[in-house]
Amino acid sequence: MTKSIGLRPREGHPNPTVVHVEGGLLNAMGLPNPGVEHFLGELRRLKDWGIPVVASFFGETLEEFVEVASRLSEAGVDALELNCSCPNVEGVGVLGGDPGAVKRVTEAVKGCVDRPLFVKLSPNVSDIAEVGRAAERGGADGLTAVNTLRAMAIDVEARRPILSNVIGGLSGPALKPVALRCVWELYEEVEIPIIGCGGISTWRDAVEYLLAGASALQIGTAIMIRGLRVFREINMGLRRYMEEWGFKEVSEIVGLAHETRIQQGR
Ligand code: DHB
Repeated sequence: MTKSIGLRPREGHPNPTVVHVEGGLLNAMGLPNPGVEHFLGELRRLKDWGIPVVASFFGETLEEFVEVASRLSEAGVDALELNCSCPNVEGVGVLGGDPGAVKRVTEAVKGCVDRPLFVKLSPNVSDIAEVGRAAERGGADGLTAVNTLRAMAIDVEARRPILSNVIGGLSGPALKPVALRCVWELYEEVEIPIIGCGGISTWRDAVEYLLAGASALQIGTAIMIRGLRVFREINMGLRRYMEEWGFKEVSEIVGLAHETRIQQGR
């Protein structure tokens, strides 16, 4: 999974761009990236290692979304993730709150790529299921839930906001209950698969997301806090959990918490 790629190189916001807060990380990078042309060189090296690459991408206009996605698709990324929900860049964050625009961009991109297309949704909306349905109607193959939650921190000595952009996106454990609720709501409203992300750092977090309805997971902030071993630890814990409870496939527990609710007649 890459940091989001845009059409042109982009420096992003000046520092400070990342700050540790209780229960997570706050960041406002401003979508820094080397641009799609440079990224295609990096992609060739990644492909040499045989690693599946999912490219996150964004645009400032519909045409840019389409152009970046087409180039990534032609160059052979394994899947695409449409970032319509960066909280720190004007225009991109706004898009994620507008179901009609999400559907239009999804449709336009889907029409010119031959790779699976996931749409990453923002938690900064009052009805995430509505945006999820719009992406589904636009032809998304899956939904990633969720991007970061708008948040801020203030330095009490300087008496100023810490991030140069003032407002940033909150990730990590503090985001998890919100993101889990988003996955839950989406699972009840859409048919396409959901990729859960937001504060997953232990196998218990992973199981919660699967039970809420995610059928794949992403891990980001936990890598910065716990290191790369987090993947092995989560996989081992998940395996133990499944053996203990007699599950053979991860798919058996996807959305299972919803069924319990029905059985209890609530
Ligand atoms: C940035 C982008 C995101 O999609 C996000 O969730 C947080 C920060 C950024 O580059 O600023």
